[in-house]
Amino acid sequence: MPKKSAPAISPIKTAILAQLFGSFMAGGMIQLLYPKLWQIPLAAALVQGICAATVGYKLESPPWWRWIHLAFMPLVVAASTLGIAPGWYLGAFVVLLLVFWRTDKSRVPLYLTNATAAEAVAAMLPSHPCHVIDLGCGDGGLLSQLARARPDCQFVGIEHAPLPWLWARLKTLGLPNVQVRYGDFWSRHLGLFEVVYAFLSPAPMAALWQKAVGEMRPDGLLVSNSFAVPDAEPVQTVDVADRRETRLYLYHPGAGK
Ligand SMILES: C[S@@+](CC[C@H](N)C(=O)[O-])C[C@H]1O[C@@H](n2cnc3c(N)ncnc32)[C@H](O)[C@@H]1O
Repeated sequence: MPKKSAPAISPIKTAILAQLFGSFMAGGMIQLLYPKLWQIPLAAALVQGICAATVGYKLESPPWWRWIHLAFMPLVVAASTLGIAPGWYLGAFVVLLLVFWRTDKSRVPLYLTNATAAEAVAAMLPSHPCHVIDLGCGDGGLLSQLARARPDCQFVGIEHAPLPWLWARLKTLGLPNVQVRYGDFWSRHLGLFEVVYAFLSPAPMAALWQKAVGEMRPDGLLVSNSFAVPDAEPVQTVDVADRRETRLYLYHPGAGK
């Protein structure tokens, strides 16, 4: 059976469209069929939520987005009755932005490699001193664990979300073999590193593979936590004995050179 292609528009645009069209549909329906419903804002918001979720479904947004569309306007209406000062909403938005940054663009949210998976990564580093990069290093937890386990190796982390970057900087301050840089890992050449670690999402894996094939040295090891590269065979997979049953995918992207 042919694979269903992903929707052409970005998730954030789909979400905005679903909310807007949902509002127009709900507004029109309520006005035409039962204008008295405007007097019960929560009920009107629920009708908007149902319409927005339906539009989201038609636009092929993932299932969890439909629940968000359904609940969004009712929650806005419910929250507006709590009398919370608008500054708190702005503050919460700014904090979320600083933590998750442009997840709408990168399609890579923040979640962290756990200590058991980090131990498994430490065990696969070459026995000789080497250079390791963590693409999107989050809070720097993986880097600090690896750096402590292997003081003979050099570790670099790149992070573009301001708060996790700051957190990682602070966490690794006392570790002379760790550098945490602010920025976009796509602009960092991978040829210097014997080991490249990525814990991203399915979205960037094909592009990451192209980058790794073009830049990594022939013996370089790409370790991807949880997300396989589409259409590329890993040289090995490692199942970690942690609660989330982490699988690490190992590749030699530069081996064909
Ligand atoms: C799933 S987290 C993994 C964090 C860390 N590597 C770990 O394993 O604990 C992915 C991180 O990549 C960051 N990120 C996503 N795209 C990025 C980019 N283009 N440049 C730098 N960081 C990026 C996100 O902000 C997030 O902190």
